[in-house]
Amino acid sequence: MKTKNHQNAVGRREFLKTSAKIATSAVFLSFGGFSLMGAVFPSQNENAIPTILLNNGIKMPMLGFGTNTLNGATCKRCVAEAISVGYRLIDTANIYGNEEFVGAGIKQSGINRDELFITSKLWVDDYGYENAKKGFETSLNKLGVEYLDLYLLHRPRGDVKGAWKALEELHLEGKIRAIGVSNFEPNQFDELMTYAKIKPVINQIETHVFCQQDNSYGFLKKSEVQMEAWSPFAAGRNNIFTNQTLADIGKKYSKSVAQVCLRWHFQRGVIAIPRSSQKIHMIENLNIFDFELDETDMKTIRQLDLNTTQFPEWG
Ligand SMILES: NC(=O)c1ccc[n+]([C@@H]2O[C@H](COP(=O)([O-])OP(=O)(O)OC[C@H]3O[C@@H](n4cnc5c(N)ncnc54)[C@H](OP(=O)(O)O)[C@@H]3O)[C@@H](O)[C@H]2O)c1
Repeated sequence: MKTKNHQNAVGRREFLKTSAKIATSAVFLSFGGFSLMGAVFPSQNENAIPTILLNNGIKMPMLGFGTNTLNGATCKRCVAEAISVGYRLIDTANIYGNEEFVGAGIKQSGINRDELFITSKLWVDDYGYENAKKGFETSLNKLGVEYLDLYLLHRPRGDVKGAWKALEELHLEGKIRAIGVSNFEPNQFDELMTYAKIKPVINQIETHVFCQQDNSYGFLKKSEVQMEAWSPFAAGRNNIFTNQTLADIGKKYSKSVAQVCLRWHFQRGVIAIPRSSQKIHMIENLNIFDFELDETDMKTIRQLDLNTTQFPEWG
């Protein structure tokens, strides 16, 4: 006799397969030539995070929790705390070496799996068709989940073509709800599109006030691919948290520099995944949906762009 859990698991797999098929055949949602991709859905609950529609028809939170450099018990605590204060999007990667602790934090939180939006990334050592499939299974097992919401190629290196084919198949099998890339320049994205059967939903790239990525921003908008900002605070570099311009803007609204930064990402329509090891910062970073930067603020922040990476060592 089949158990209830087994029946639930089968039901979920069928649901995921069906939604993957619908999403893939849609490529992007379009009604009478008008695409809804990028539409932002405010949350009913004022403390919850708005979602945005991706080009395959699924919704993703506009603000999430980053986990790079968090490890061991600290990682587990931070992920559980982040979920407890309201984060639903959790970003990890195989190369962070923390997927099992992220998984442990999720388990500790006690939240239902389907309320979360979990992202992981395939590292370049696992590229190529066969290795990518194995790499994905490893991540899934470490996280202790049955499927991922989003899986990204971490960097454009090596056998990207084979790796992308593997991701496309995993998506169609219902094991990943959406697939995308990270750190792809427009020309690298265009190259992938010469053989891709499924368009990436996301490009996750370094983006913060000192590196505003105007070129990719315009390219991704035109391509109907959602931009996601990694290191939305430049990981604290260039003294971002004591920047006088950002502090002055924040003063007008009784908001901190961190909140001004995250609100700027949100108003540009860019998903941000700030990391914090402190609950008080996690809460502060969520508290950005009750004010609006005006046009002058947005113009002033534009002037902070140095148009260059703050992480030259990762080049
Ligand atoms: N795809 C890629 O190649 C890639 C590369 C890098 C990062 N990422 C992703 O992006 C996520 C975010 O980037 P990141 O981790 O590099 O750095 P980040 O989010 O830009 O900055 C994190 C730093 O900001 C501090 N902070 C957070 N909230 C604060 C607040 N309200 N006030 C003052 N300080 C605050 C944190 O310190 P406290 O802990 O003290 O709060 C931490 O030192 C990563 O965790 C990872 O998931 C992806």
